[in-house]
Amino acid sequence: PVLVVDFGAQYAQLIARRVREAKVYSEVIPHTTTVEEIVAKNPLAVVLSGGPSSVYADGAPKLDPALFDHDIPVFGICYGFQAMAGALGGTVAETGTREYGRTDIAVSGGLLHDGLPATQPVWMSHGDAVTEAPSGFEVTATSDGAPVAAFEDRARKLAGVQYHPEVLHSPHGQQVLSRFLHEIAGIPAAWTASNIADALIEQVREQVGDGHAICGLSGGVDSAVAAALVQRAIGDRLTCVFVDHGLMRAGERTQVEQDFVAATGARLITVDAADTFIGELAGVTDPETKRKIIGREFIRSFEGAVSDVLGENASHGATVDFLVQGTLYPDVVESGGGTGTANIKSHHNVGGLPEDLQFKLVEPLRLLFKDEVRAVGRELGLPEEIVGRQPFPGPGLGIRIIGEVTRDRLEILRHADSIAREELTSAGLDGTIWQCPVVLLADVRSVGVQGDGRTYGHPIVLRPVSSEDAMTADWTRLPYETLERISTRITNEVADVNRVVLDVTSKPPGTIEWE
Ligand code: XMP
Repeated sequence: PVLVVDFGAQYAQLIARRVREAKVYSEVIPHTTTVEEIVAKNPLAVVLSGGPSSVYADGAPKLDPALFDHDIPVFGICYGFQAMAGALGGTVAETGTREYGRTDIAVSGGLLHDGLPATQPVWMSHGDAVTEAPSGFEVTATSDGAPVAAFEDRARKLAGVQYHPEVLHSPHGQQVLSRFLHEIAGIPAAWTASNIADALIEQVREQVGDGHAICGLSGGVDSAVAAALVQRAIGDRLTCVFVDHGLMRAGERTQVEQDFVAATGARLITVDAADTFIGELAGVTDPETKRKIIGREFIRSFEGAVSDVLGENASHGATVDFLVQGTLYPDVVESGGGTGTANIKSHHNVGGLPEDLQFKLVEPLRLLFKDEVRAVGRELGLPEEIVGRQPFPGPGLGIRIIGEVTRDRLEILRHADSIAREELTSAGLDGTIWQCPVVLLADVRSVGVQGDGRTYGHPIVLRPVSSEDAMTADWTRLPYETLERISTRITNEVADVNRVVLDVTSKPPGTIEWE
């Protein structure tokens, strides 16, 4: 792999994605990883990410110069660029000129920016600057605040940039990163959907051997792709289980029971568990508690399904040892399983799993981002209605009712949600938004007036977001006409709702879901 060393930047995941967009597999590792550990992973290259600190700050993460003794190609970005300059004998100084945001650089010579405009905008975020490149390096870009804004030593396959090539505000950034990977480091572009699918199918075969597996289907893209992959790997030793927890949106169950089965021919069992889930959630308002209950009940439902799965074989001692989940890289990172990140929320299938889990987990998508999962799904022949779906969380409407989950409240939210979805689809906006949670503030009431009378109803929140991978997101600027239609219809058609509000918060600071 290409290893992206996380110096505490919010951008490390993004860099890993960008490397993969250049068709090279990458993983994020913490900056505490030693050079021996890095060398042991046999990386094709190392990318040093940006970070929040100044290289001079107390406790600033250090870069061990020994990294450069192993003929590993290295690319430094922002903090990583400065750390690299320092470690190789260049000079990093506090120039007093901070650059933050859009900045122009002037490029000349070198391979990184070859053929790109002589002056180009990039995204900067730094106080210190490299004032002198280490010996052997050619300086190939400068800006007002960064005398050395890019350097390269092609013979040693080392290069770096002061700016952030990974963000969209650096329009040529992806080309620069690709140049480093393919031309300076000489890495082939081999990470493609078909190679990924083949490799994952092989891994699943190895892990499961001749065992049996079940896969929880949620109706979402991830579990569908995971199931299709595992089916390719082990055939009918996979049974899919759809747990109807009563927290689904309108029409969801039919979609799974029809579309998925039609596309894959997989064996599917449906478990009716609404009473259990809603019963267990009674009286619960704390988001993390809800998530843990839902995560636990999913597993209990899978355990309950096992005897159905095995049928007669159970009496011959057969068992189901494996549970397939569509866990993605961002789920892992956000549930605190990543590299030194805080636990923001327990995704039902990661931090929400019970401790006495009887199954071994098969998570073929654990290291992938959503767009990669979609590409793999298409590669496996899944139809666009499945792979193109917007994400919907496993805990469903349970984490979109702020307050206790009850059947009446679910009914209200389901109705409001179906109106919002209908209007977004008919306005042709499905492709522009990443997803649009519809949230019921069940413990909030406000005064309204409808048909000459006073109402005292609940607000519905619309949370349309745009995102590349759900790690960060921006609120989507929906057309006013669409918002108006949604608002009018929800307040007219949904009993007990007399107000529709729009969430205009990006992530960070807000998360996408409210709980
Ligand atoms: P947040 O709210 O963390 O959401 O910004 C990021 C993405 O993850 C989805 N999400 C979940 N998906 N189980 C899931 O399968 C969960 O427990 C869960 N929680 C959030 C959310 O819809 C968004 O796409």
